[in-house]
Amino acid sequence: MQVIGVIGAGLMGNGIAHVAALAGYDVILSDVALDRAQAAVRTIEKNLGRGVSKGIVAADAVTPALARITVTTDSAAFAAADLVIEAATESEPIKLKIFAGLVPHLKADALLATNTSSISITRLAAATDRPERFTGLHFFNPVPLMTLVEIIPGLATSDATKAAMHAFATKIGKTAIEAADAPAFIVNRILCPMLNEAIFALGEGVGSVLDIDAGLKLGANHPMGPLTLADFVGLDTLLSIMRVMQDATGDPKYRPAPLLVKYVEAGWFGKKSGRGFYDYSGETPTPTR
Ligand code: 3HC
Repeated sequence: MQVIGVIGAGLMGNGIAHVAALAGYDVILSDVALDRAQAAVRTIEKNLGRGVSKGIVAADAVTPALARITVTTDSAAFAAADLVIEAATESEPIKLKIFAGLVPHLKADALLATNTSSISITRLAAATDRPERFTGLHFFNPVPLMTLVEIIPGLATSDATKAAMHAFATKIGKTAIEAADAPAFIVNRILCPMLNEAIFALGEGVGSVLDIDAGLKLGANHPMGPLTLADFVGLDTLLSIMRVMQDATGDPKYRPAPLLVKYVEAGWFGKKSGRGFYDYSGETPTPTR
C-alpha cells in the first residue's frame, strides 16, 4: 500500500490524512469544495507544528509530509489509491452516495474503509462492489494524538482485508482493536452512555457543570470531564450515536438525556459551534448553565 485516499476534509478526515502522510503514505484528500480541502491542509500544517513543539513529530518530517498530500474534488483521482477511507458526514444517504460515485473509479484490488462511528458496516459494504475488501476503520478525535483505531469487519470482510487493515494501523502508529459490527462498536458503546449520563445528572441538578467535570477528572482520572468531552465530540454527534443505539437495540437504557436533545435543538453543538455546556467565545470556557 502506498497511496491512501481520504474522503472528507473535516475534523476526522484531516486527522487521518495527517497521520497517513506523516507515516510516509501519499495521500489524496477530497472534499465537496476545494477550499475546504485546502483549509484542511493548513490545519494539518498547524497540527504538525504543534506536534513538533510537543516533541512528538520530528521538525524535518513536516515539509515532506505536507508534500505527500494532494487535494481534489474529483472521485476519479482515487483511481491511484490502494486504500480509500471515507470520513464524510455521519449520514447513511451521504455515505452511500459517495460510495456509488467512487467505486467505478477504483482499482479492482483497492480496499475501502469507513470512519463511521455507528452505522452498520455490513450494510454500507453491501452497497459497494467489494464487500470482502471493506471494513470499518474508526479513529478518535484528535486523531494525531489518540493512539487507538477500531477495525470493524463486516459479515463479508475477508481475512486478507482484516490483515491489511491491522498492518496499516500499525504503520500509522496506532494500536488496533477489533470490534464486532454492533451498534457503536466498542468505545462509543461504553463512552457515549457515560457522557449521556453526565448530562442526565446535570439536568437533574445532581451537580454543576464544573463539579461534574471536576468529579470525573479528579475522581476517575479522565483527561477531560464528561461535559467538556461531550462538547469536544459534538453534541449533535453524541445525540445521533445515542439514537442509533436506542433504535438498533430498542433498549431504553440508551435514551438520550432530555437536556442533550434541547442543546442540539438550540444549535448548541459544543466546541465546533462555539457553545455547548461551555461557552468558548472568551479566553477560558465558561459554563452555560
Ligand atoms: N494535532 C491535532 N490536535 C491537537 C494536537 C495535534 N498535534 N495537539 C493538540 N491538539 C488539540 C486538542 O484536541 C485541543 O484542541 P483545540 O486547540 O482546538 O482546543 C487542543 O489541541 C488541546 O491541546 P493541548 O496541548 O492542551 O492537548 P493535550 O496534550 O493536553 O491533550 C487531549 C489533549 C489529548 C485531547 C486530552 O485532553 C484527551 O485525551 N482528551 C480526551 C479525548 C477523547 O476522549 N477523545 C475521544 C473522543 S470519542 C471519539 O472521537 C469517537 C467519535 O466517534 C465520537
